[in-house]
Amino acid sequence: MKYFKVAKEKFKKIHKEYSKRDILILGIESSCDETSVAIVKNGREVLSNVISSQIEIHKRFGGVVPEVASRNHVLAIENVVREALEKANVTLQDIDAIAVTYGAGLVGALMVGVTYAKSLAMACELPLIKVNHIKGHMSANYINYKELVPPFIGLIVSGGHTALVRVDNYTQNTLIGTTTDDAIGEAYDKVAKVLGLGYPGGPIVDKMAKEGKHNIQFVKHDMLKGTYNFSYSGLKTAVINYLHNERQAGHEVNVADVCCSFQCEAVGMLVDKAIRACKEYGFSTIAVAGGVAANSYLRTTLTEACEKENIKVLFPPMSLCTDNAAMIASEGYFNAISGEGLADLSLTADPNINLKYSGRK
Ligand code: KG4
Ligand code: ZN
Repeated sequence: MKYFKVAKEKFKKIHKEYSKRDILILGIESSCDETSVAIVKNGREVLSNVISSQIEIHKRFGGVVPEVASRNHVLAIENVVREALEKANVTLQDIDAIAVTYGAGLVGALMVGVTYAKSLAMACELPLIKVNHIKGHMSANYINYKELVPPFIGLIVSGGHTALVRVDNYTQNTLIGTTTDDAIGEAYDKVAKVLGLGYPGGPIVDKMAKEGKHNIQFVKHDMLKGTYNFSYSGLKTAVINYLHNERQAGHEVNVADVCCSFQCEAVGMLVDKAIRACKEYGFSTIAVAGGVAANSYLRTTLTEACEKENIKVLFPPMSLCTDNAAMIASEGYFNAISGEGLADLSLTADPNINLKYSGRK
């Protein structure tokens, strides 16, 4: 097909010319409830990063409704692309390639971004680069820390994922540990819901926890101690059971104390394992990414613990922690300069892609 032949040639040119000229990538993200489009120069410089959030729409349902998310992506995407180009002060003629999240996420939501990206790539005869959303989160650190180069330990904590990875190079991650059940962000959202605090739960629980004390122990032992895996389902259920029992007994629940105690346990697990992995693999840096990287308690406790161990810890700015297209464009750039990730027009959404283990868990 003519389109793919041209796209392939242009893709090869990126790989050949990136050290001699600027490369502009247009990134598209629609895996959950944010429609986002960004223009990123040379993988690290954000020219624009427009995020159209649906949080207000989903709030009244207490969480993201997949069908509603897809419909709103359809309504938003055209304008978000236009705004991203305008803000970056570029036109589609200036763009070298389109990068799009093709998974993991909600299938209907992903399909909107993927379909739009394919149409744009075909109409402009531009290479299409497929980006794994989970890996994309880590690229937020390349944007914020211009000097950051792999290898390092990555901790990806979001509403859908909890993963400890060895970032081997710009395109390859090896999974060291992951959640055996719920993601940490999912647990935050659920706990907020049962406390009647609203959606999304992470930022509210984070804020409430500052007013409370760590005076309740929900989970006695980390059943996965000694491994690099995490479990949040037990902790979540323990909080739900605690609330149920207290309410049944007619006791008044101190919401701030519940938030603080839950948060200490949830974050505590991450800190110990990330540091242990960094020491075991002999690296000197831990980079954190994903929505939960915005958590203030994680930021302070991991920073303090890393200082003691002489480990450098990096967090993206708040705006790049939660879903955004700048990280997708950046990830797309690093794929392209490595000659990886080129997709043709048969690309489809893959809601369940994950990271791969190295063989040792
Ligand atoms: O990365 P993200 O935007 O979407 C996914 O890829 O899942 O992460 C969203 C998650 C939600 O679960 C939200 O509650 C959580 O990140 N989150 C936080 C904070 N801000 C967002 N969790 C804890 N503390 C926060 N400050
Ligand atoms: Zn995400």
